[in-house]
Amino acid sequence: MSAGAGLAGVVAGETAISTVEADGRGLRYRGYAIEDLAAHARFEEVAFLLLYGELPDRRALADFEARTARLRAPPAAVTAILDALPGGVHPMDALRSAVSVLGAVEPERGFEGQEAVAERLLAVLPALLLHWYTRIDTGIAPRSAADGAGLAEAFLRMLHGRTPPPTHRRALEVSLILYAEHEFNASTFAARVTASTRADLHSCITTAIGTLRGPLHGGANEAAMAFLDPLADPDAAEAAVLDALRAHRRVMGFGHRVYRGEDPRSALIKPWSRRLAAEARDERLFAVSERVEAVMRREKGLFPNLDFYSASLYRFLGIPTALYTPLFACARMAGWAAHVIEQRRVGRLIRPLARYTGPAPRPYVPLEARG
Ligand code: COA
Repeated sequence: MSAGAGLAGVVAGETAISTVEADGRGLRYRGYAIEDLAAHARFEEVAFLLLYGELPDRRALADFEARTARLRAPPAAVTAILDALPGGVHPMDALRSAVSVLGAVEPERGFEGQEAVAERLLAVLPALLLHWYTRIDTGIAPRSAADGAGLAEAFLRMLHGRTPPPTHRRALEVSLILYAEHEFNASTFAARVTASTRADLHSCITTAIGTLRGPLHGGANEAAMAFLDPLADPDAAEAAVLDALRAHRRVMGFGHRVYRGEDPRSALIKPWSRRLAAEARDERLFAVSERVEAVMRREKGLFPNLDFYSASLYRFLGIPTALYTPLFACARMAGWAAHVIEQRRVGRLIRPLARYTGPAPRPYVPLEARG
C-alpha cells in the first residue's frame, strides 16, 4: 500500500521529544503543555528541556545560559564569507550558507561532543544572522554578540542596539518557545533523514534550514506579512481575502496539516500581538489581522496557525520582515538538534520505497537512431 501525497496521516517514526495531542487539541514538549511553558518558562529552559530531556534546576540553567552566552560570537572565517555575500540575498540563504561554512570551520569530530556542537549552533545562529543583516543590509557596523543575555534579549539588542523593554523581550521569548519544536514537521523530518545517514550536525541543520525556507512551512510568517502590509483597513482586508480565495490562492498563515481546528500555539501568540499593538497605539495592523482571521473562518473554516499572529507581533517588535523566517530557524534550532540526537540513537537509515508510475520497460534507442 502506498502512502498518500505528503505522507499525511503516516506515522513515520517514534519520538519522545514532543507530541500533538489527540485531535490536535494541544502540544506538549517532553510532557509539558506549551501553555505552561509559554506562561512561565524562559526560552533557555525550554531549549535545555528539548536537548537534555528534563527541565534544568537553577544551577543547570545558569550554567547553560552562561555557556550559550559565551558561545555566541561567530568565528571570523565565517563572518568574512558572510561579508562577501551580495546585499540582496535573502537572509535564509545567508543563514543556510553560514551554517554550512561553520561546519567546515568548526567540524563535528565524532558524536561524543554532539551536545556541545548543538549548544554552539543554538548560540551562534542569531549572531551570524544579525552580523550579516546589520552589516550588509543596513550598512551599519555589526553589533557585538550581546554577551550575557538569553536568546530573546540578545536578538533584540543586536538588532536595535539597545536593551529591549521587558514586554518586548517576553513577547519574543514566548514566540521562540512556541517555535522551538513541533514533532515531525517538514524541516525536522528532513534533518532526521540527513541524521540517519550519520552525517554531521551542521549538514543536518543545513538541510533543515533549506526545508524551512518555503512558504508552505516557515516562510509563511514572512508571506503573511507581505499579504497584510498593503491592507489599509479591515474592509480592505475582507476584500483581499475574498479576492485571494476566488483566485484559489492560499492565504499564508492559515491551515495546518495536523491542526484541522485551532492551532493551540496561535491562541498563545495572539494576545501578545494584541498587547503590543495597544502599546504601539497601532490602529491598523491588528484590526486588519483579526478581520482576515474572521473571513477565513467564515469562508473556509480555516484557523490561523502560529505564523499568522507572529507576523504582526514581529512588526511591533521592530523586526524586519525578511528576518521572520530565519528567526524561526534560530528557535527551531533547539528542536532540530534534539531530533538529530534522538535519530542518532535510533541508528537506522531512513530509506522508504516508492511506487513506480513511469514508463514500462523499453529498449534504449542509440543517439544516431533518434535523429
Ligand atoms: N488558504 C486557502 N485555502 C487553504 C489554505 C490557506 N492557507 N490552507 C489550506 N487550504 C485549503 C486547500 O486549498 C484545500 O482546499 P480544497 O480541498 O478545496 O482544495 C484544503 O484547504 C485542504 O488543504 P491541503 O493543502 O490539503 O492541506 P495540507 O494539509 O496539505 O496543507 C498547509 C497544510 C499548511 C500546507 C496549508 O494549510 C497551507 O498551504 N497553508 C498556508 C501556508 C502556511 O501557513 N504554512 C505554515 C504552516 S505552520
